[in-house]
Amino acid sequence: MISPGYPAEMQRFTRGLAEVGAQVIGFGDQPQAGLDGDVKKSLSAYFQAESLWDESTSVAQIRRIADQMQIDRVECLWEPGMGLAAAFREALGLPGLTVAQTVPFRDKETMKQVLDHAGIRTPHHYRVRTSDEAREAVEKIGYPVIVKPIAGAGATDTYRVDSDEELDQAIGAVRHVEEVSVEEFVEGEEFTFDTICSGGTVHYFNMMWYRPRPLEGKLKEWISPQAIALRDVDDPKLAAGREMGFKVLDALQFRTGFTHMEWYLKADGEAVFGEIGGRPPGANAVELMNYACDIDVFRGWAEAVVHDRFTQTVERKYNCGIVFKRAQGQGRIRRIDGLDGIVDRFGPHIARIDLLPVGSPRRDWKQVQISDGFVIVRHPDLQETLGMTDAVANDLNLYAG
Ligand SMILES: Nc1ncnc2c1ncn2[C@@H]1O[C@H](COP(=O)(O)OP(=O)(O)OP(=O)(O)O)[C@@H](O)[C@H]1O
Ligand SMILES: [Mg+2]
Repeated sequence: MISPGYPAEMQRFTRGLAEVGAQVIGFGDQPQAGLDGDVKKSLSAYFQAESLWDESTSVAQIRRIADQMQIDRVECLWEPGMGLAAAFREALGLPGLTVAQTVPFRDKETMKQVLDHAGIRTPHHYRVRTSDEAREAVEKIGYPVIVKPIAGAGATDTYRVDSDEELDQAIGAVRHVEEVSVEEFVEGEEFTFDTICSGGTVHYFNMMWYRPRPLEGKLKEWISPQAIALRDVDDPKLAAGREMGFKVLDALQFRTGFTHMEWYLKADGEAVFGEIGGRPPGANAVELMNYACDIDVFRGWAEAVVHDRFTQTVERKYNCGIVFKRAQGQGRIRRIDGLDGIVDRFGPHIARIDLLPVGSPRRDWKQVQISDGFVIVRHPDLQETLGMTDAVANDLNLYAG
């Protein structure tokens, strides 16, 4: 397991592996002494990388480790480590995504080219390296377009562009990025299709609805972004996206592990592909999946990759929503308003409250998706769920100063 201690959710996937009977060897850049107690218990060995992101050094180190102990699989659920995991597999001759197979999961242009060939509806798109190429792309696509890094995450350096003037601004703003995608801007709602697979079979899937669209939430600090794991995945309105989700996995020949796809639903009902990662969504989304069905998705993933099966029963009991809060003002959290009211109104439906305590410094909402904290609620009825998430968005306020 690459980087079993960081980000925090990796500790829970590591625990899942141990729980299903795997002997887990950790490999990461944290010193062993710095690992959390729980994750230490799940590891049968740990090796601190000499230089984790230096691929040849890490591959040489993993070969030496493989001389000492048997390694059967290499896993990594963290985007920056996907390429490294593939390089380890190739070096050790192990199953799982190869280096070539990870490319369409990481390079957003290659990804869409592969899917175009498979007949999947992607946004009209071009790979662009210079400002001239950007202008050519816009001529073919027409405004509005989106400009974003080929290998981006967290909507960083992502711009909607509506005019030549805005295009010049966007080109200036992404100058430090070597290659960008210029894409047709798809107007619509944004959803996910997330899966756990083994041997090419989808054992479990989840669909989330982002409110508002992530780009909008990324631009306006006053917004409390929401994500809702939906109970009724058979809603006819989601059918096109779900069908696309299965086709995309086939086209990318994905066999075993976690996937996270984003897609757009246009007002006319058309589903358009957004992007896909060969890893779970971040920002506590896996926790939402757990609360929605009262299952342990961390262990479910582990069982799929270790034993090629998923034996937990998936009964979709709830819609489960998370609301991320951003304090008003700068500096340290001074006051939290409205929490008592939220607890009084929704008590039994609140799954978790995790807000920065008064006195702690604010987080950088542009960098950290969970911002200054979050609340998770769940309810069998979608409208009730949205009533609660909107109330948390509007009536719960953190102040800093
Ligand atoms: N073609 C498009 N049309 C409309 N909106 C888009 C388009 N491409 C990107 N966006 C908006 O920008 C956001 C970020 O883009 P994308 O998901 O491709 O990149 P990302 O940085 O990998 O995202 P993340 O890591 O946050 O999931 C999307 O969630 C969407 O709101
Ligand atoms: Mg995205």
